[in-house]
Amino acid sequence: MPRIPEDILQRIRDATDIVDLISEHVQLVKKGRNYSGLCPFHDEKTPSFSVDPDRQFYHCFGCGAGGNVFKFIQEIDRVTFVEAVKFLAERTGIMLPQNAGPSREEDAAADELYRANDLAQKYFHHLLLNDDAGATARTYLQTRGLTGETIARFGLGYAPPQWDALIKVAGRRGLSPQILERAGLALPRSTGSGHYDRFRDRVAFPIANLSDRTIAFGARALQPDQEPKYLNSPETPIYHKGRVLYGLSDTRDAIRRQDAALVVEGYMDLISLAQAGIQHVVATSGTALTEDHCRLLARYARQVVLLFDGDAAGSTAAMRACEAFLGTGLDTRVVSLPSEHDPDTFVQAHGSDALLKRAENAQSVLDFYLKQLAQQHDLSNVEGKARAVERLKPLLAKPRDAVRRDLLLREVAERLSVDEQSLRHDLQASLRRPQRPRMESAEPSPTATPDPPRHELEFVGLLLNFSQFIPQTVRQLAPDSLSDARTQTLCRTIFDRHAHSKAIDLGMIISELEDDALARLAAQCAAQDFDEEQVERQWRDYLLYFQKNALQKRIANARQALATASDDGEIVRISAELVALNQERQAVAAQQSS
Ligand code: UTP
Ligand code: MN
Repeated sequence: MPRIPEDILQRIRDATDIVDLISEHVQLVKKGRNYSGLCPFHDEKTPSFSVDPDRQFYHCFGCGAGGNVFKFIQEIDRVTFVEAVKFLAERTGIMLPQNAGPSREEDAAADELYRANDLAQKYFHHLLLNDDAGATARTYLQTRGLTGETIARFGLGYAPPQWDALIKVAGRRGLSPQILERAGLALPRSTGSGHYDRFRDRVAFPIANLSDRTIAFGARALQPDQEPKYLNSPETPIYHKGRVLYGLSDTRDAIRRQDAALVVEGYMDLISLAQAGIQHVVATSGTALTEDHCRLLARYARQVVLLFDGDAAGSTAAMRACEAFLGTGLDTRVVSLPSEHDPDTFVQAHGSDALLKRAENAQSVLDFYLKQLAQQHDLSNVEGKARAVERLKPLLAKPRDAVRRDLLLREVAERLSVDEQSLRHDLQASLRRPQRPRMESAEPSPTATPDPPRHELEFVGLLLNFSQFIPQTVRQLAPDSLSDARTQTLCRTIFDRHAHSKAIDLGMIISELEDDALARLAAQCAAQDFDEEQVERQWRDYLLYFQKNALQKRIANARQALATASDDGEIVRISAELVALNQERQAVAAQQSS
């Protein structure tokens, strides 16, 4: 159970306008009582995401995501429940009690990981700024042109060369080597006993989540021959590379204001641009750009400019990134820098105006792509064109609306002077062949277990929306009269809250449910519409139906028991029970038909 008192959760929730909050991430349009928009949790072309301002929750009919303001922040920022509560508490100016802590073991575990990363960041930062050990790193960053202000802004640090410096510091603060290991900061020794620090003698770039907490590091070698150049935190329960963009927690306001983001590859690229006054930048961090990254960006801006290194590796990365971006419908363009430069060296050599000018004149994705292909294939002959078309296919399939796909296809046909119809035909044929595995798809995979029966979902939804029926329901129905284990659990949760005189509040129920799928189901149940005039009759119908079903099950069991019973006394007892059960069932049936 949450250690944050329920009344405080209520106050925070009441003080947060869910439409305002979600509008920061999704463009919402008013539709009757509700608001609707494109779901931020899965890819979709037509809006199936709906926000109900009265009942203060959201629900996606497409992917089933749903919940209250806390759940929304948890999902969108990928933070724990406690993190979400803290974030919204700050936003609403409501004070949390001092001891407000993790509500679940999972949160407690995540909290330790945050604490470990936070400690490492502070420790490394301190060494870089104040300690003799950090002198070389200080000089190094100076030679790379970074000011003290920039170093402070990005919380850069220095990880010392010893094998156990961080382990010792953390130990004094109650963080064990095992916790450091889970946080990606330490590794177990190959001898089997003991741990050692992951980051040693490197400049540390802390990576923050959108709640501005350090969740990982990228750490750069100081010597040119040291391998690897950048050592990164591994994936941990709080760090998912494919979903985190370096710098975004710092630059997102600028990105929102500009309605545009520059995407670079390196930590140093982002920092250098920011120092030069170009704030609307994000960086991937040691990983290819994923569609999750793009969706994340799409929440802040409609335009994206890819600013990758001028070399071959940079171009290849940019081509991949184009594919990822086209799928999101973002207006994406590409800047090719001179091959000797990356964004960092370019801005240091030519200044921010020169860079911004290049961004303004960025090429369309198609121009960029064709130019790259022209360097690799001879587009004046049939063979070369065929190869280029082959390479373009993944791109052509990407735009998520048919109109954009069609426009792109026509343009490709024209630019390569190939026949539009045969290109279309060719493309469709290759799309029908499901050869490429769909990568990074956010589409929920079809679950093995089917949904609970519809009427059970409706019944739970009815109880959630019309709590006046709960007292009678508790008296007349056992949760296991429902057939599905999930709706049973939801029923039990509702009954429990009633028994403890707690409000039947969807948000609270969702926060209380340990299982994510169940929480979604609860939201799905509650999101159904009921006709208020019919609801009492509906409730009675359902109640009788479940009662009758439960009785029928008991009758069937009794019959079976009777068939195998050998003892006379037992036979008499079961027979009497059967009679009583049948009478009960008839009574229910009579009520049903009345
Ligand atoms: P680059 O090799 O282009 O380095 O890698 P950079 O960003 O220009 O770094 P500086 O200017 O030499 O310091 C680009 C990004 O790729 C990831 C890092 O995120 C880096 O910022 N990378 C690179 C790694 O994760 N590991 C590596 O060994 C190298
Ligand atoms: Mn660089």
